[in-house]
Amino acid sequence: MKNEILKAIQERRTVNQNSFTDQDISQENILTILEAANAAPTHKRTQPWRFVVFQKDGLQRLGTELSRIYREITPAEKYTELAEQNMAKKATMSNVAIAIIVNYTGELPEWEELAATACSVQNIWLAAHSLGIGGYWASPGLINHLGPFLHLAENQKCVGIFYMGHHNSEPREPVRSSIEDKVRWEE
Ligand SMILES: Cc1cc2nc3c(=O)[nH]c(=O)nc-3n(C[C@H](O)[C@H](O)[C@H](O)COP(=O)(O)O)c2cc1C
Repeated sequence: MKNEILKAIQERRTVNQNSFTDQDISQENILTILEAANAAPTHKRTQPWRFVVFQKDGLQRLGTELSRIYREITPAEKYTELAEQNMAKKATMSNVAIAIIVNYTGELPEWEELAATACSVQNIWLAAHSLGIGGYWASPGLINHLGPFLHLAENQKCVGIFYMGHHNSEPREPVRSSIEDKVRWEE
């Protein structure tokens, strides 16, 4: 039989804006989710994860900035007005968006701090799932241009945005090839 943690790991899914409802995520739940992030493992305890939490008008500002960056960096032949609008909607259709930032300390190889930050994002995802909140880690190319907007320091990098909301999506099976294809046993 599966315990609650194993069930959450198996049942957590990517839930996107199309399934988000209008229900607000409570401040208490946001703090619970952030505390879960902060419990991630970290070599030398550098705790490199940093977050900027967007709610309410903050989501409008984020959406406007995402659209602006899309306009700025997209070559004319690839640009479409619809894509520009959709970029903003990712933020405005979410109830909360969390910019995921790695704070590189120089004390460790960068990959270790990135890996620790990814562990914190998995904790966010599982904690949100356990509270009935859906979401996903979005990593569009334009996050590389969010530095000034997020007031990032030289040693910090935005590696994604976690969009969240209460939702009405149905549970679905994970799409995965067998673990047996990914493991070599040595006895
Ligand atoms: C580092 C990382 C970046 C991701 N970036 C995106 C993204 O930009 N857009 C998106 O729709 N999903 C993104 N995802 C979510 C994956 O597409 C999703 O986890 C995958 O399809 C498996 O589905 P599941 O989460 O329901 O198991 C990302 C996931 C990870 C771990």
